[in-house]
Amino acid sequence: MSEKNEKVDDGSHYRRKDLHKYGQASNLKMNEHVKKLQSQGQQIHHLAFGQSPFPVPEKLCSAMQKHAFRNDYVSMSGIADLRSAICQHHNSFPTGYPEALIQPENIVVADGSKILIYLTMVVTDTVVILKAPSWTTYQSQVTLAGRQQIIVNCPFEDEWKITPQNLIQTLEGQEIQEKNLLLIFNNPGNPSGLLYTTEELEALGKVFRRYRILVISDEIYANLTYPDSCYTSLAKFYPEGTVVTTGLSKWSSAGGWRVGYAIFPPQLSNIREAVISAASHTYSCCAAPQQYAATEFLRDIESCKDFMYHTRRILHAVSIMCVKKLRAVGVRVHKSHAGYYIHPDFSNFREDLGRRSIFTGQQMCDAILAETKVALLPGAILHLEEPNSLTTRLCYVNFDGIKALEVSREIGLDQKLGEDFVDCYCQPTVEAIESLAAWCTNLKN
Ligand SMILES: Cc1ncc(COP(=O)(O)O)c(C=O)c1O
Repeated sequence: MSEKNEKVDDGSHYRRKDLHKYGQASNLKMNEHVKKLQSQGQQIHHLAFGQSPFPVPEKLCSAMQKHAFRNDYVSMSGIADLRSAICQHHNSFPTGYPEALIQPENIVVADGSKILIYLTMVVTDTVVILKAPSWTTYQSQVTLAGRQQIIVNCPFEDEWKITPQNLIQTLEGQEIQEKNLLLIFNNPGNPSGLLYTTEELEALGKVFRRYRILVISDEIYANLTYPDSCYTSLAKFYPEGTVVTTGLSKWSSAGGWRVGYAIFPPQLSNIREAVISAASHTYSCCAAPQQYAATEFLRDIESCKDFMYHTRRILHAVSIMCVKKLRAVGVRVHKSHAGYYIHPDFSNFREDLGRRSIFTGQQMCDAILAETKVALLPGAILHLEEPNSLTTRLCYVNFDGIKALEVSREIGLDQKLGEDFVDCYCQPTVEAIESLAAWCTNLKN
């Protein structure tokens, strides 16, 4: 056989057929791509990756050093002290959780909340309801778990939120009799910084109850809700059917530490047990040093409060700048209420882009990267079924968080951070947004 015809055995014949095109997480892949360009000397404004710009809080770092020697396999559901510290923490930052929910015996600690969302899918016999736009991992997990999915499309006009109307309308068009439903709810939201009001949550809770939907409420950004907004958990209105997932990754800048947890209501203790069993057969337990360090940190409510206050205030100020500058040039974008993201929609430029043979979100982001050096994640990935979506996910966290945090602390607690603060201490983000805005303006000329 000639060399040309020789088939390289790369193991592909072993691969599950439905995972033939299964790729890596698009955000992580994009991050690697940008890092590679940067290592080649290119100056890239990296707005494509949602990672905390702030340092790990001092208390958490010193606790980690102290507990580095801990090498035991520990409890599969998380050490008891950490589960009780989590309850203490949640009770100090009320979010409407019913008292019966915030109990150590309801909690499962894991290597990040991501795996807990996945394992809940795996151990339940459910059809999974996803909203679009949403964080891409949910859909990839549905595929990996071999589950069927139902997508609820949520338009810009509804602030990208799922509403009782569009949920009911979608479900009415499906063969769902006899099927268990699992809905992944995300509040505050990635990719848009959306935040549901108490009225919206109450109305949604009624629909979830009517259809007996098991809900995972992914609240990983809740502790990053901005000072002018108020966060309430869905668990307040639908306690019996809501599993809350959250963790330290976002608000305490510890994404790589992998400490997350789920809170199961007593009515779902059977699912909790199944998730712990699945944990015991896969990752065994969340890393012990991280658990002991997190326990000490969460018990120190004051240092949590100080860190949370400043980081939220800075992110809020940066988000206001981004929205203002993009709206000024005609980009459709909602204000963010929490976290690191906005979800700009460039559909007002569809004709102008078309003249340049740009028709898809991917083509648009490629052109933006090539011409402005601003890296964005194309929204088509988040919109699940809409490749032509001209939305993007923009992460406004490419500034020096250490410096910004230091200056915010010097300014003190009682002042708002204005535009001058952002111009001075979040300058890389300002530069990136101004380049993007100028690119939009040029499209019209
Ligand atoms: C919406 C959402 N949920 C969950 C996660 C993952 O959280 P963890 O680090 O706890 O696995 C992320 C991280 O990017 C996220 O954006």
